[in-house]
Amino acid sequence: MDEEIMLLLAGMEQYEEITRAGIRFNKGIFQGNSVVVCKSGVGKVNAAVTTQILIDQFKVSKIMFTGVAGAVHPDLNIGDIVISTECIQHDMDVTALGYARGVIPYQEESIFVADEHLVSLAEQACRAISAGKYRLGKVLSGDQFIADRNKVAWLYKEMDGACVEMEGASVAQVCYMNRVDFVIIRSMSDKADGSANMNYSEFTITAAERSHAILEYMLKQL
Ligand code: ADE
Repeated sequence: MDEEIMLLLAGMEQYEEITRAGIRFNKGIFQGNSVVVCKSGVGKVNAAVTTQILIDQFKVSKIMFTGVAGAVHPDLNIGDIVISTECIQHDMDVTALGYARGVIPYQEESIFVADEHLVSLAEQACRAISAGKYRLGKVLSGDQFIADRNKVAWLYKEMDGACVEMEGASVAQVCYMNRVDFVIIRSMSDKADGSANMNYSEFTITAAERSHAILEYMLKQL
């Protein structure tokens, strides 16, 4: 989100801006680390292209992806945080040919596991900054904004999801293909069931401040 980018840029030194494929990459130093901050845009293709550019052009060794998501696990509420243990594309559907939902045919992996150290750092960060409730779990991604109670129940029961969003699993897949570490950190903005949301602009500011604080903590420890 723009709100997250602005907070991160404010803390960066030796700042340089480079545009590739229409995406602005902000390179610099943050908490003593060489970093690139960018906004992927919505959906799996945008996220995949952004991730591959980060790897090829900027030679990143770790990716921390933040943003909002719809809560899937019944214990999660708006404002809670999910840290990815793994990611899968819930809209990958080759069931007609006998594959389980989410399975990418002819590929070794369809569930992409997050880096343990980054997951642990994210967890420590949530505790250190008193970020409220957080949970570790599976992030489900698809090119669909989910606003359907039955679909949420299916995503929980059949896909074992903690939350649903539109980018994480494609970032995760590109990281897996390139052997780059990743973690996805999401603030719950809705319950993915079409029910009323809290004041969205207020929520965005809180979520952005929180993800900035989490990243700041994590980068200090790296
Ligand atoms: N991002 C935030 N909420 C979402 C939802 N309900 N479905 C998909 N992506 C989301």
